[in-house]
Amino acid sequence: MTDRPYVIDQMISAKSIAARIETLCGEIAQEFSGTDKLIVVGLLRGSFVFIADLVRELDLPIEVDFLEASSYGDAMESSREVRILKDLRGAIEGRDVLVVEDIVDTGHTLNHVTALLRSRDPKRLKSIALLDKPSRREVDFRSDWIGFEIPDEFVVGYGIDYAQRNRNLPFIGKVRFLGDEG
Ligand code: IMP
Ligand code: MG
Repeated sequence: MTDRPYVIDQMISAKSIAARIETLCGEIAQEFSGTDKLIVVGLLRGSFVFIADLVRELDLPIEVDFLEASSYGDAMESSREVRILKDLRGAIEGRDVLVVEDIVDTGHTLNHVTALLRSRDPKRLKSIALLDKPSRREVDFRSDWIGFEIPDEFVVGYGIDYAQRNRNLPFIGKVRFLGDEG
């Protein structure tokens, strides 16, 4: 599958992403105003570009931490398991936390990660995802902030990969396999 030739059609421009981040950061700063320090938790690896732009636009005292989760399906899609491959370095008990994800797809990853982090008794825990594919949802999960709702398309760029490729595109593009048109 990874050897199939494909092209990338731009879906969301770098300019639109930047404008949306400005708006979102205004809302986030308002929500967490008065925080002593917000812990911004990036989910590796897809959120690394988003979190970099987000924190530079966020007018709050922050620190950054990272967590890596991996989801895999067994025979039954609905019993998807999520494993923590790399946990946070710091404690979050009594702290303000913002979890940053690239895409909410089935919802399993953020559902699991936010439940895990909530069990550590943070003061406030919110989540933001750049993209949301609501039509793909398997669990009832809603992120507190969403950059863009998108249809059920496979996307790359702005940190998001296809088989580890295309993370460095400055925009979000849709993968179109050649020969699929007819
Ligand atoms: P889910 O919400 O648990 O299904 O998982 C979301 C994760 O699936 C994201 O963090 C991405 O790593 C991956 N993913 C979902 N849709 C796409 C896509 O269109 N392109 C690349 N990765 C995707
Ligand atoms: Mg991911």
